[in-house]
Amino acid sequence: MKAIRTGATPSTLEALEYADVADAPDPGPGEITVALKASSLNFHDYAVVKGMIPSALGRIPMSDGAGEVVAVGDGVTDYKVDDAVVSTFFPDWLDGRPPATAFTRVPGDGIDGYAREAMTAPTSWFTRVPRGYTHAEAATLTCAGLTAWRALFVDNAVKPGDTVLVQGTGGVSIFALQFAKAAGATVIATSSSGQKLERLKEMGADHLINYREVEAWGPKVLELTGGRGVDCVVEIGGAGTLDQSMLATRVGGHVALIGVLAGFAGPVQTALLMAKNLRVQGLTVGSRQQQLDMIAGIEANGIKPVISDTFELERLADAFRHQESGGHFGKIAVAI
Ligand SMILES: NC(=O)c1ccc[n+]([C@@H]2O[C@H](COP(=O)([O-])OP(=O)(O)OC[C@H]3O[C@@H](n4cnc5c(N)ncnc54)[C@H](OP(=O)(O)O)[C@@H]3O)[C@@H](O)[C@H]2O)c1
Repeated sequence: MKAIRTGATPSTLEALEYADVADAPDPGPGEITVALKASSLNFHDYAVVKGMIPSALGRIPMSDGAGEVVAVGDGVTDYKVDDAVVSTFFPDWLDGRPPATAFTRVPGDGIDGYAREAMTAPTSWFTRVPRGYTHAEAATLTCAGLTAWRALFVDNAVKPGDTVLVQGTGGVSIFALQFAKAAGATVIATSSSGQKLERLKEMGADHLINYREVEAWGPKVLELTGGRGVDCVVEIGGAGTLDQSMLATRVGGHVALIGVLAGFAGPVQTALLMAKNLRVQGLTVGSRQQQLDMIAGIEANGIKPVISDTFELERLADAFRHQESGGHFGKIAVAI
């Protein structure tokens, strides 16, 4: 079968290789073989293919995979041939708190991922997909969808009347906008692009801020909320945006610390953190059970992911170049 592999050091997009690899083995007891039909890009996958994660050199990348079951092993009762399934981010984190070992076996990072035509794995590595979803839509859920879900509904309990701030128009933030609106929240959304802000408005964002034009957007958020601040920030910038996010959050509010797009490390305004009684909580995607809860929530609210672009697997490097350009809105899908 065909697969994409990252190059050996130094890894670049040019070094991504579309090559023949061994076929997926027949499923053993408790395993299924999935004919993969789609994946989707996350910043984490970009970090892998760009060699920012040295342990992932020479890897089949991509954490997200969706497709059809083509064979089931002995004892498998929860799936049958032709079922549509989507991968989970952490094969070793099924429910409850994350085990310390959960993070070492992330497909597309610690182990080979889903940039290939088929995969044989234990049934617990997959879940069902929401009713009516295409494979590409399903493949957006593994990382971006679940991260946004956890920020709002696992680490917080966003409810009607709350106010949520989402940053930019990448995969996580667009899901967060959709989930927050479905929960009845007011959403303040930021972007660097006037055109993208228009699209955010069409999707239901209540207040819009161009973060390039309004660098001190924290005080602007306070103004928009009558001086109170938001209940929850979906923080995808990290070091470069945390100060503004903390300013924008209400006393006792929650900053879901998800991303590093504006820097990996930096000083923290500890006095502000303390004075405002803020809860800044780091998170990494979520468990299999949280993915199932999200799927139920998606079905109850008829939410569909926003996919702005689709690339064939063999053009994965071009897909990452597109992500690099920031031209996308929501998710970039990969057709396998
Ligand atoms: N911790 C976790 O579990 C987890 C899971 C998923 C993702 N992440 C992280 O979350 C971040 C976003 O991931 P993603 O996959 O959604 O990325 P993505 O789809 O590539 O998002 C890129 C978009 O982010 C926006 N952006 C970039 N810099 C910004 C800034 N300084 N302020 C506000 N918005 C900014 C831009 O939106 P505009 O073009 O509209 O300006 C850009 O188009 C990444 O750092 C990723 O590693 C973490």
